Amino acid sequence: MDLDAALGLIAEVPDFPSPGVVFRDLSPLFAHGEGFQAVADALAATVDPDVDLLAAVEARGFMLAAAIGYARGLGVVLVRKPGKLPAVAGRVDYALEYGTATLELPDNVVAPAARVAVVDDVLATGGTVNAACRLLEKTGAVVTGVSVVLELAALPGREALDGRKVHSLQVV
Ligand code: PRP
Ligand code: ADE
Repeated sequence: MDLDAALGLIAEVPDFPSPGVVFRDLSPLFAHGEGFQAVADALAATVDPDVDLLAAVEARGFMLAAAIGYARGLGVVLVRKPGKLPAVAGRVDYALEYGTATLELPDNVVAPAARVAVVDDVLATGGTVNAACRLLEKTGAVVTGVSVVLELAALPGREALDGRKVHSLQVV
């Protein structure tokens, strides 16, 4: 399937989860085999060749990173919401477009100086991906870049990432 057609499967839901937010829902894209494949292939092509590991942000980043990891022969570390991991290497609190949240990194998974690409679905304020990058960097990893499907132009996601390389398939 053509990439633009695949990206067209993403739904826009006004006023979710709070008034004024236009929520970009990837559910119809994930449920469409050819669409999901087209997006996963395009996102896989944005990951630098010298990467050692992918980092996936819960929850929708898990879907994308798993597909990219399989396509590229790369492993995935799951960056998780709090309370899910038995042992953590670190934890970061951050601000969201609609609230606050925390991310945790599993202990003993990311090798020191590992070159890691961060994968998520949407870059909005950038708080989530920035938190994931900071967590990884605290362990000594090197974040080579960030790959997302959608970047929201109205929000300063790129600036929040302090010059880290950002690859987005579509800016909306
Ligand atoms: C969404 C999205 C990104 C994040 C982007 O996740 O999947 O991870 O928000 O927003 P930001 O750039 O403003 O930080 P959400 O927190 O809704 O969690 P979910 O994937 O578990 O549904
Ligand atoms: N995360 C933060 N803002 C979002 C949005 N508008 N759509 C989907 N995920 C988001």
